[in-house]
Amino acid sequence: MKYPIEKFKNIETPFYYYDFDILRDTLQNVKEEAGRHEGFRVHYAIKANANPKVLKIISEYGLGADCVSGGEIERSIECGFRPSQIVYAGVGKADWEIELSLDNDIFCFNVESLEELQIIQEIAVRKGKTANICFRINPNIGAHTHEKITTGLAENKFGIALEDMYKAIEAARTYSNIKFIGLHFHIGSQLLEMDDFIALCKKINELQDGLEEKGIHIQIINVGGGLGVDYDNPSENPIPNFKLYFDTYAQHLKLREGQEVHFELGRSITAQMGSLITKTLYVKQGTAKQFAIVDAGMTDLIRPALYQAHHKILNLSSKEAEKTYDVVGPICESSDVFDKAVRLNKVHRGDFVALQSAGAYGEIMASQYNCRRLPVGYSSDEL
Ligand code: LLP
Repeated sequence: MKYPIEKFKNIETPFYYYDFDILRDTLQNVKEEAGRHEGFRVHYAIKANANPKVLKIISEYGLGADCVSGGEIERSIECGFRPSQIVYAGVGKADWEIELSLDNDIFCFNVESLEELQIIQEIAVRKGKTANICFRINPNIGAHTHEKITTGLAENKFGIALEDMYKAIEAARTYSNIKFIGLHFHIGSQLLEMDDFIALCKKINELQDGLEEKGIHIQIINVGGGLGVDYDNPSENPIPNFKLYFDTYAQHLKLREGQEVHFELGRSITAQMGSLITKTLYVKQGTAKQFAIVDAGMTDLIRPALYQAHHKILNLSSKEAEKTYDVVGPICESSDVFDKAVRLNKVHRGDFVALQSAGAYGEIMASQYNCRRLPVGYSSDEL
């Protein structure tokens, strides 16, 4: 990733910097690799980064949108996504969000409970609309990732239990304004090994055999997102291995005539194009260690504090010999630490520091704790 440091000097820090060349190369690669397989359709998971400048580029590549709130549906439509390519998931859809989805004729609701199905039916009847629905099935597969981003285990709140799937399909058939079109899954995020995706394919194949025995045909299999990125070596691996990912599904998922496979990729599309740029306020000598105190904090990038996530850190302003620092923010919380014992080119007050791979779940998860300003996102197109 290239950093136009001269231009950074005129911008208030901290801010997010998005390299749109990387974003475009990533999208081109996603399009090509998914395009090799018939019936593969990619949605971008808006939750990863909903900056309008970013969304406009992504929508230009023809991806659909995976939304989890009414706000995301509104934002994605404003930024050029077609309602007919919007899927909407979430365990707690509010009535106004269901109404908004029906008013905009979105493609599909990913329904997570029978209770929710009934409310969608009631609202659809009132509006004289038909809602396409997929059931989100909890496949009880343990994705090997951080516990806070595992979603497909029976103990998680997401989806309908496997044993209740037929009951749900039967219920959907009795509702006049509901059209059941498929099944939805999502097992977790930041998955780098294909084994978990292969386990999901096997589970789906079993389910499809069972459905077929009962004469039930589905059009859509939505396998969610989850492809991880290389947080340790972002410069060497700016683009995730989409070829391996799509080929894995093509090889292991047994599709029936006319079926589509939908993907909901978030992190793998936006993580590597973004860095959080922060300025060093002080270099403080503690009793046992040196602290580089920067002007970004956990309010700007919460992933290290929340998930013990590792973001590679670079000193953009210095080429002097490396020293070891704990890189910390100004927030009044001891968890406001970006990383410990990091080797950085010698740091001085005023140096620009980049926290890499922060384009996904960075800006969008920022908060105003401590009455701080929200970080702004700038793109390489505008700087
Ligand atoms: N589909 C569903 C139903 C999801 O729940 C998620 C993410 C995605 C797709 C997109 O997954 P991805 O391709 O980005 O892995 N804030 C956390 C990540 C939370 C992911 C939640 N669900 C983080 O910063 O690591």
